[in-house]
This record gives sequence, structure tokens and C-alpha cells, in this order.
Amino acid sequence: MSEQRREDLPTEAELAEMSRDELVKLGTKLDDVELVHYADRWPVKGTRAEKRAQRGVTAWFVLSGLSGLAFLAVYLFWPWKYESPFADGYLMYSLYTPLLGATLGLAILAIGFGILLYAKKFFNEEIAVQTRHDGPSDPVDQKSIGALLGDAADTTGIQRRSMIKRSLGFAGGVFGLGAGVFAVGGLVRNPWKRSDSPDSLWHTGWQSKNGERVYLRRDTGDPHEVVLVRPEDLDAGGFETVFPFRESERNDPEKLIKALRRSDNPVMLIRLRPNQRVVKRKGQENFNYGDYYAYSKICTHLGCPTSLFEQQTGRLLCPCHQSQFDVYTYCKPIFGPATRALPQLPIEVDEDGYFFARGDFIEAIGPGFWERKS
Ligand code: FES
Repeated sequence: MSEQRREDLPTEAELAEMSRDELVKLGTKLDDVELVHYADRWPVKGTRAEKRAQRGVTAWFVLSGLSGLAFLAVYLFWPWKYESPFADGYLMYSLYTPLLGATLGLAILAIGFGILLYAKKFFNEEIAVQTRHDGPSDPVDQKSIGALLGDAADTTGIQRRSMIKRSLGFAGGVFGLGAGVFAVGGLVRNPWKRSDSPDSLWHTGWQSKNGERVYLRRDTGDPHEVVLVRPEDLDAGGFETVFPFRESERNDPEKLIKALRRSDNPVMLIRLRPNQRVVKRKGQENFNYGDYYAYSKICTHLGCPTSLFEQQTGRLLCPCHQSQFDVYTYCKPIFGPATRALPQLPIEVDEDGYFFARGDFIEAIGPGFWERKS
């Protein structure tokens, strides 16, 4: 602060005595601001033009509020569960994400336009010239800028514009509510509820229904083609991503596609080299079939596919945050942010020579959640 400016400063007692108008003027003077033009935008109150401007601002806020409500409705009630392109509900399902984006985007956009329009239509017309200076604001500046903001609220007449206030409250309230619901909505689901359901976090598509065998199936690119996997299909050191298949679903195109799309289904079938030394997990010593090991492909950090297998070192790499899992030591994490081993699927070969799963995973797959212990 310059010496000249310090001399201009009022004492604390004088400051306390000053009116808001005087503080505003003091603030502009101290900031080296010269007001070239400063005039009330609506010198005659209550004109039709003023009311029209008020309705324009209100319309944006109402639009924002309605869009916020639409966003909430879509988020809470729209059918979001995956449907295959051949199923009846596919159109509704495919609209879920675009509708979330469109309604939330419109709510934010409309509230922004409303605020801009309010500033344009109701703030005093002002042309000011200011000399730029650096450094933090001193207490006098802070106080005078507070007065300036208060003055802006007064001169724009926000107190008597109840329509704008109410519509802004509506838009802001709905927006805040939407943000709150969006933030905690995903945490409300209780994984213990219906924990026996095949769709719960504790089960995957590998769970057997009515004792029917679940085979390991290859994804050929054609969701209707069923190709099962046999031990001789893999070379030593090779691996393949496989999905569950039940004979009862062979002629059901929708279920065949769902088995390939369900996010917790992908499993990596790995064939180790003969005589490879392996450390097995306690209680899972018989989950492998000879040199063949099957692990969930879903990373235990945040759920990306751990699809990079480094043959030479026996490591699986997750490309998302570089977690590495040691295939020779029950896929336990040895690098990166993942802290849990990849769950292992118990496998066997049937009398015709095809791989099948002896059961579902014995622990939840993928990232941790509050009730998960392992
Ligand atoms: S999701 Fe795999 S390392 Fe983060």
C-alpha cells in the first residue's frame, strides 16, 4: 500500500461510522477505480420492460429447477439395468445415460444463464476504469468490497423481486438436492439385502442354478456362437478370457449375450508352464486343474480388466493404475494400489474334455465394499 493511500485511510472509529454508500465510494477510491458512468438500470420502477426482464430471469431459474427434478426422477426411477440389443427394454435402458447427462447439463446451463441475465438486466449500468495492482487485500478493502456487494444487491432490487428470489431458490434447492442424492445415492444400496440373489455382490454369473454345470466359454465375437474350452486349446504359458455357459441357455440368444456382458463374469484361464513352482492360497489348494488356473479378470482396486499377462515373469497387469498380480502366488498383488488377490474360480474338466466351474467364486470379486471381509 502506498504512503499516499495509507494517509487516505479512515480510522477504525471513522470506518464504523461510515454509511454503506460512503464505504462503496471509499472502496472504489482506494482501488484506484474511476467510475466514468454509474446509473440505475431501471430509474422508473415497475415498468413493463422491467417486468419482462424479471420474467426472463425467472424462466431460466424455473427451467433449471424442472431439469433438476427431471434429473432426480431419471436417476431414481429410470430402468438402468443392462438389456441386450434384442430385448424389449433395450431402448429405455440405452436412454438412461444420455438422459442423465441432458437433464443435469440443462439444469446447470439454465441456472448459469439465469444468473448472467440477472446481472445484465438488473445491475447498475457502470463503466469503471481501474489501475491494476498486486498483493492481498487489506482489511479496509475487504470491508469496503462487502459494502459494494451489499450495494449491488440493493441497487438490483433483489429484495422486492420475490418472483426471481423464489425461482432461484427453487432452482438452487433442486440442484442442491440433486447433487446430494447423486453423491450418496450409490452408497445407499445394502449388499447384505437379498445376499442370496444371483445379482447380489456376493455372486457372479458362475453361480450354478439347480445343480446345472457352468462351462467355460470363449468369446468368438459372435454372441450366438457357443465354443467351449478344452485343455488342449491353450499352449503352455498362454491365457484366454472365458465366460460362463449353461446348456439350458444354448438356444436363448438374450441369455447368451448377457453372459458375455455381465461385468463380473470375465475370467482369465491361464496355463502355466509345466513344473512351474506355484504357491497356492490356503483353502484353495484344489481350485486349479493341473497347470490351468482361472482368476477373476476384475481388478480388486477399482474394477478394470486386468488383461495384460506377462508370460516371462508370470505377472498380470492392470492398465488402469498399474497394479500387478503374481500368478505364481495365487494372484496376490505385488505392485500398485490393489490390496486384494484376484479371486480364483475352482475349475475341472468333464468326461468329454471340456472345462467347467466347480462352483462360484468363494468371495466377492472386484473392488472392496463396506461389508467385504476378504
Ligand atoms: S483398477 Fe486396476 S489398478 Fe486401479
